[in-house]
Amino acid sequence: MSEEPILRLATLADRPALETLLERSVRSLSRDHYSPGQIDAALKAIFGIDGTLIADGTYFAVLVGDQYAACGGWSRRRTLFGGDQAAGRSADLLDPATDAAKIRAFFVDPAFARRGIASLMMRAAEQAALAEGFTSLELMATLPGVPLYTALGFIATGTHDVHLADGSTIPFVPMRKQIG
Ligand SMILES: CC(C)(COP(=O)(O)OP(=O)(O)OC[C@H]1O[C@@H](n2cnc3c(N)ncnc32)[C@H](O)[C@@H]1OP(=O)(O)O)[C@@H](O)C(=O)NCCC(=O)NCCS
Repeated sequence: MSEEPILRLATLADRPALETLLERSVRSLSRDHYSPGQIDAALKAIFGIDGTLIADGTYFAVLVGDQYAACGGWSRRRTLFGGDQAAGRSADLLDPATDAAKIRAFFVDPAFARRGIASLMMRAAEQAALAEGFTSLELMATLPGVPLYTALGFIATGTHDVHLADGSTIPFVPMRKQIG
C-alpha cells in the first residue's frame, strides 16, 4: 500500500460515503458465500450503518489517502448486529462485569481487502472495550467474516439463520473471544 491506513472515529458527515463503501464491500466480498438474492435482501433488511455507534463514538472510519477504505466498530449496547433499518434492536447499555462488548459492522472496500485493515479496526475496538472494563467480545459473523475473526482468536458458538423477506434465509455465525 503506498499510503498507510489512518483510523479515526467516524462522524455523521462520513455516513453517505460509508454507506456506499458498505454496499460495495458486501456485493463484492460476499459473492462466494451468499447468492445475489440473499445479498440484495440482506442489504435491505440487515447490513447497514448503525447511527447509534457513530453517536456513541465507537465506530471507526479508515482512510487511505483521501479514500474511504473501511468502517467498523464496537458497542457498549445490546444490539448484536444490523444497521438502523434492522429489526430487533436494543439500545440498552451492557454491563462490562457480566456482558460481552459487541463487535459491529466491519466492512472493507474490496480495493483494500487483505491488507490488515479489519485487523487494525479490531485492535482499536478491543483496546477501547478493554478500557471500559469489558473482558469479552461477541459478534455475529457473516460467512466471509468467519476466517477473519477466527484468525483474530474468536471462536464460533453456533450458527444463526436470519429469515429474509423473500422467504429465504441467510446464515451467520455467532462468535466470542476473551480479552485482557
Ligand atoms: C471480512 C472482512 C471485513 C475482512 O477484512 P480485511 O481487511 O480483508 O481483513 P484483514 O486483511 O485484516 O485479514 C486478516 C486475516 O484474516 C484472514 N482473512 C481475512 N479475509 C479472508 C478471506 N477472504 N479468506 C481467508 N482468510 C481471510 C486471514 O488470515 C488474514 O490474514 P492474511 O491476509 O495475512 O492471510 C472483509 O472481507 C469484508 O469487508 N467482507 C464483506 C463484509 C463482511 O462480511 N463483513 C463482516 C461482517 S461480520
